[in-house]
Amino acid sequence: MQKVKVNLGVNSYEVRVGSGCLALTGKWLGELGYSGKAVIITDASVNKLYAAPLEKGLKEAGFDVDVFTVPAGEEQKTLGSAGVLYDALSRVNAERITPVIALGGGVIGDLAGFVAATYMRGVPYIQVPTTLLAMVDSSNGGKTAVDHGSLKNVVGAFYQPKLVVADIDTLRTLPAIELSNGMGEVIKHAAIKDKELFTFLEKNMKKVMALDEETLENIVVKNVRIKAGVVEKDEKETGLRMILNYGHTVGHAVEALSGFKLKHGQAVAIGMVAEAKIAVRMGILETGVVNRLEKLIQEAGLPVRIPEMDAGKLMQIMGHDKKVRQGKLTFVLLKSVGKAFISGDVDSTLVEEVLAGG
Ligand SMILES: NC(=O)c1ccc[n+]([C@@H]2O[C@H](COP(=O)([O-])OP(=O)(O)OC[C@H]3O[C@@H](n4cnc5c(N)ncnc54)[C@H](O)[C@@H]3O)[C@@H](O)[C@H]2O)c1
Ligand SMILES: [Zn+2]
Repeated sequence: MQKVKVNLGVNSYEVRVGSGCLALTGKWLGELGYSGKAVIITDASVNKLYAAPLEKGLKEAGFDVDVFTVPAGEEQKTLGSAGVLYDALSRVNAERITPVIALGGGVIGDLAGFVAATYMRGVPYIQVPTTLLAMVDSSNGGKTAVDHGSLKNVVGAFYQPKLVVADIDTLRTLPAIELSNGMGEVIKHAAIKDKELFTFLEKNMKKVMALDEETLENIVVKNVRIKAGVVEKDEKETGLRMILNYGHTVGHAVEALSGFKLKHGQAVAIGMVAEAKIAVRMGILETGVVNRLEKLIQEAGLPVRIPEMDAGKLMQIMGHDKKVRQGKLTFVLLKSVGKAFISGDVDSTLVEEVLAGG
């Protein structure tokens, strides 16, 4: 097991990564000073796989445990689900000191985190991520939210967990597409912040995709460190944290225009390539980096090209419709592998040309 400390003053917490960690969560919660009642929030698929060992460990540590299960899927990340969970928490007399444990992927992490942030003005919560995406990205950094209307993550709070427990063994049951989905964010982290991780991935992608335990543990730890390093400097995303949005400006537009048929990691992969091409066209990045990025993304089972989509519509979703053409856009641009910066000086015509396949 490896530990990463995330230093956020009074909101500091630890991320523990390793195989078999799930069953130790109860013991660790006891060591953090919690006792009495604990609540697990999970989805129906993850419940069947991992609620029992987590619950057993909590009970052995003396906790009185309640498990609340919502159906799996992004459609559940709503105020409606939050309402159902508030009812459940009050029914079992959860108190302000009752830890809420989010067991699952990013949907559960965001939903349970939001519920924990708001129930009784905030109860402690623990993230137990079970997807690669949740381990390397969503469980870390304190962004919690639900979707509302057609808008994703629009109602939420910055609220840090007290502990994150990433049990690498849980990745064994993850569908291949979900593993690829998480690799989108892994490649993003390497591209913006860690040249060595990028080279490591170029050499070891086969091991990653074959779920080699040691490789995965190291990758999760490295990614947690990268994200934590950025979040520590800019917890509430007023500046630097935006570099984590590399590939996401185009990615979000592609994801939305696909009607969310494309998974987030797939859309971000496409976005990373497009945004690297923008940097090449601006003379900031060498063309060779685009080739390396494309190769890595494909090896991770992710797409590199924008599917048949209208570039004008993509521009519109990015908040740049015809009326304000000729303007400048803000993008995270790569300078080289492992180095990125935020530029507010990207020519919109150039962007549209790249989106149209230029
Ligand atoms: N808070 C943040 O900073 C942040 C960052 C990135 C993404 N997100 C959010 O994360 C969500 C996406 O998360 P996700 O990709 O983990 O999706 P998810 O939570 O929907 O999980 C994907 C699917 O995998 C299943 N699953 C989870 N763990 C499993 C396991 N170990 N074995 C088998 N099946 C398993 C789930 O039941 C689900 O069907 C989005 O809502 C997104 O907005 C949040
Ligand atoms: Zn993302």
